[in-house]
Amino acid sequence: GAKTPPRHFLDLKDLTKADVRDILARAAHVKKLQEGRRKPLHPNTPLAGRTLGLMMAQPSTRTRVSFEVGMKQLGGAVSVLAPGDMQLGRGESIADTARVLSRFLDVLVLRTVKDEDLRELARWSEVPVINGLTPVSHPIQILADVMTFEEHRGPIEGKTLAWVGDGNNVATSLIEMAALLGFKLRLATPASHEPSPAALAWARAHGGDVTTTHDPREAVKGADAVITDTWVSMGDENRDERIKALSPYQVNSDLMALAAPGALFMHCLPAHAGEEVTQEVFDSPASVVFDEAENRLHSQKGLLLWCLEQQP
Ligand code: CP
Ligand code: NVA
Repeated sequence: GAKTPPRHFLDLKDLTKADVRDILARAAHVKKLQEGRRKPLHPNTPLAGRTLGLMMAQPSTRTRVSFEVGMKQLGGAVSVLAPGDMQLGRGESIADTARVLSRFLDVLVLRTVKDEDLRELARWSEVPVINGLTPVSHPIQILADVMTFEEHRGPIEGKTLAWVGDGNNVATSLIEMAALLGFKLRLATPASHEPSPAALAWARAHGGDVTTTHDPREAVKGADAVITDTWVSMGDENRDERIKALSPYQVNSDLMALAAPGALFMHCLPAHAGEEVTQEVFDSPASVVFDEAENRLHSQKGLLLWCLEQQP
């Protein structure tokens, strides 16, 4: 009979709200287990005997370390693959690479500046493929962001989040999550760096309350969280032009003062303090950026369990 397709995690729009809640529930469960028992870090080994292939064609601190540590804490093993060291770098096709790796590995993560490479890998892989960031989207980041928001502020449904700055890959995944989970999203970007029209159209067609403006003050007014990201993403060119266009969108104390009382400041990191956010806001009590970073570990453990259909 036909094989069931692997549970890929490429974009949030491919998932249902129930899928996202399922991943986050597994994440909360493993986080609680870990908090209860520092040693051993994880009492169960639900991924014993499984191996994750971590293919990072671009730099990474959080994604790489959190997947490696998370997989090991769940009892699994990790093979770190630098695409430049593989035959891929000498022209072996992604299709063949995917079919070979599927015979060795149980789940793959790919970070690449070529979004089409991720799609091609997933098309041919017989094991789940996880998007570890492309210039188009960064869905694993938004799992950690929702987890962090809810730990601090309770259910995200009906809340208002503001995105200020570049309408980039992280913004696209946030737009998709807004429609899936039902939070309001206000994005302020310059006209030259607007969010993906396709992501906006998809979100609105799926009931998302997502609006755009060029005015950061309008977006932030009354928001429960203010989110930004670097002005120069991996693969971006024209750094000087970008800084010039984006400097009116810096998140500073004056802007944060317009948000709801107790509003959170969030950032996926790495940050460039003095550019997209002031050092003052970054280090303020409103800032939950290191909780966000920690939750990359827990949320991706939930995701690995979901992809491999294992309970914590
Ligand atoms: N936020 C994030 O994905 O960080 P890394 O680039 O360090 O993986
Ligand atoms: N938007 C950034 C996020 C880095 C985690 C980039 O793509 O470089």
